[in-house]
Amino acid sequence: MTTFQNIQQTLAPELTALNDRIASALGSPNALMNTVINSYLEKKGKQIRPIIVLLSAKLLGQVNEKVIAGAVAVELLHNASLIHDDVVDDTVTRRGSSTINGTWDNHLAVLVGDFFLSNALLQSVATNDIRVVKSISDLGRLLSIGELDEIYTARYNNLDEESYFQIIYRKTASLFVSCVEVGAYGVEVDDDRLDTLREFARLLGLCFQIKDDIFDYFSDEKIGKPTGNDLREGKITLPLLHALKNGSPRSQQMAELAQAPHLDPAQVNELISFAIEEGGIDYAYATMRRLRDQAAELLKRFPDNEQRRALLSLIDFIITREN
Ligand code: FPP
Ligand code: MG
Repeated sequence: MTTFQNIQQTLAPELTALNDRIASALGSPNALMNTVINSYLEKKGKQIRPIIVLLSAKLLGQVNEKVIAGAVAVELLHNASLIHDDVVDDTVTRRGSSTINGTWDNHLAVLVGDFFLSNALLQSVATNDIRVVKSISDLGRLLSIGELDEIYTARYNNLDEESYFQIIYRKTASLFVSCVEVGAYGVEVDDDRLDTLREFARLLGLCFQIKDDIFDYFSDEKIGKPTGNDLREGKITLPLLHALKNGSPRSQQMAELAQAPHLDPAQVNELISFAIEEGGIDYAYATMRRLRDQAAELLKRFPDNEQRRALLSLIDFIITREN
């Protein structure tokens, strides 16, 4: 059994409660909506985000209805953002299957994404805690701004490492920060501990997106989505960013290519090879290890229990995962 499966197993009753609540939250009188949602829920993904809600609640208290409703809210908001993201990115494969826009069309995918988003807000209201509602609502704002930032930065090519980290904080790490907030609000954690958890989640979220960005440099069936997409869309992520900055003779020529409005498949491959040869992937792994070590230090402020160990192994899983 892998570490991740082990974590899932220790949370089995809570995950069953989570998935039951997701299924009932997404029920509707519309047959088409039900068909789309049922097929979407068949490949629900790893559910790392609600797992973080559950672990952060259990780290310092006990999982209750409020924690489950909060975990459902973040999972639904996350899925809403992916459904909309696949429309924005024109992606037809995710989690090894066809996306909603791929199977049906953009109109339907936008509406199903809206339905997920509205249900996420309803679940946050069901916690009866305005802090959870605020966390989820702020998150929707940040994710949208992050997505827009990324497209804007891609179009205008003003990317440096600082803006890269700002983008990946907004588009990905912010969601992980909300997860620990929602878990902590459910069990009432003091402000100091909450701030430590937030910082832990930020570091974990940055690692998650750096790893996700690395996948784009490799073609592998296990990843379950097409590779080279970011570059085709003009998005320069950490491996290439590092390669472009390390002063090799080809850097200038590659920087110009990376900024071209359209890239053909051979040009995408050229940029990928350049990033790999110039040590961009190694650099991205070294960056994740640095963030992971900072995160591990933060966890030492919590009692040494099963949940603390699980949170640490989760960040290791995120760095080493193959999809
Ligand atoms: C995946 O990024 C997408 C996100 C992390 C966020 C998408 C956010 C939005 C579409 C806006 C907010 C939406 C709502 C409902 C509030 P990616 O394209 O880099 O990763 P991928 O390879 O998994 O598609
Ligand atoms: Mg995408």
